[in-house]
Amino acid sequence: MTDLPKTYHVKSFGCQMNVYDGERMAELLGAQGMTATADASAADLVVLNTCHIREKAADRAYSDVGRLRRDDGSKPLIALAGCVAQAEGEEAKRRSKMIDMVVGPQAYHRLPEMVAAAASGQRPVDTDMPAISKFDALPARRRTGPSAFLTVQEGCDKFCTYCVVPYTRGAEISRPASDIIAEAEALAISGAREITLLGQNVNAWSDGSSGLDTLIRRIARISGVERIRYMTSHPTDMTEALITAHGEVPELMPYLHLPVQAGSDRILKAMNRSHTAASYVSIIEQARRARADIAISGDFIVGFPGETEEDFEATLSIIDKVRYAAAYSFKYSPRPGTPAASMPDQVPPQVMDERLQRLQARLAVHSLAFNQATVGKATRILIDRKGRLPGQMIGKTPWLQSVFVETSAAIGEMVDVVTTAALPNSLAGVLATAKAA
Ligand code: 5AD
Ligand code: SF4
Repeated sequence: MTDLPKTYHVKSFGCQMNVYDGERMAELLGAQGMTATADASAADLVVLNTCHIREKAADRAYSDVGRLRRDDGSKPLIALAGCVAQAEGEEAKRRSKMIDMVVGPQAYHRLPEMVAAAASGQRPVDTDMPAISKFDALPARRRTGPSAFLTVQEGCDKFCTYCVVPYTRGAEISRPASDIIAEAEALAISGAREITLLGQNVNAWSDGSSGLDTLIRRIARISGVERIRYMTSHPTDMTEALITAHGEVPELMPYLHLPVQAGSDRILKAMNRSHTAASYVSIIEQARRARADIAISGDFIVGFPGETEEDFEATLSIIDKVRYAAAYSFKYSPRPGTPAASMPDQVPPQVMDERLQRLQARLAVHSLAFNQATVGKATRILIDRKGRLPGQMIGKTPWLQSVFVETSAAIGEMVDVVTTAALPNSLAGVLATAKAA
């Protein structure tokens, strides 16, 4: 039996959806009268919002739990949340005696009751995927930064053979348009100028009659919203209407995160991706016809079971065709319960290492070329943080590049800059007015 916690700390790992969920959990705990602390070791309650996507990420959850023991032997109340919580349920309590409660991504609106139960000595587990949306039970959004996430869709029905998401996040569901619009308005009023619509398959969002393109057009009309982004998309749900919106809605940023995973049709089939290399490239070409300057980013997995050198080279070749502006790349990690985990011909770790290095070297050539192509050009950035040097601020271009610039503009302001140099992961720039002067 402990007192009810007065302070909390939420730590999120993994994808943007987890970042969003972490913010909502913090808002929920704040609405209970608890205050946030920046230092996890000093908090009465720590929520670890975990990721299960690869083995390394999942293992990290338990080592992070262990690290919460203080020098004097005491520990905060610990909530294991997120996708590891969903995947492991009761098992999590057996794996670590330090865990006081286990709460899945569809049940975290019940966190306040669970915290009360944990404080009275119980160890509650809630990994339900209730029919009633957790969103209905969450408090209104509070103040956010200039760039905010907004979950519009959750879950996945695609069942790629390597992926745990259909098991941890459940079936595809779309939030009602009216709820999303209300949340976007609240975010805009509280200072958000950029809204990133989130979903595991965000472009599968539908209200039964219209799709994500319609939602984007409605959000674009909200006063104060100057930039709209969305991620992550699946090639199968990339409709013509959504592609067209890229050419027609100025607020929709010229950026498309469209994972391909691999370039070999044999491997794509074994992954159950439901697209081919050619059908993927044709979507990219359509997107470029709609908006010539659109930046493409992607996700890649090397070393999927059965991947030969020839298959891998097909992945390098699609990289050269698409010329990605940015990308995330991973070694295949077998996940419990997924079909690929028991497929024959698992690729040895050294081969995966070597392929990942070659893949990343190829991706780096294109991302640097993409950044270099913008040098000398004028662009508008949204200032989102301070730089390390005095007077230096960092802002994002429409293509999601970070630009370092000397300016007195504050976080949340948009300024016109001319980029002066390209580094692999960022750009340097000067104020457009400074250049003219
Ligand atoms: N192993 C490695 N990478 C994976 N991803 C998903 N599952 C796995 C796995 N088992 C990658 C995919 C996905 C991204 C979020 O994580 O590239 O797009
Ligand atoms: Fe991790 Fe995927 Fe869950 Fe996001 S949805 S937290 S990436 S397992």
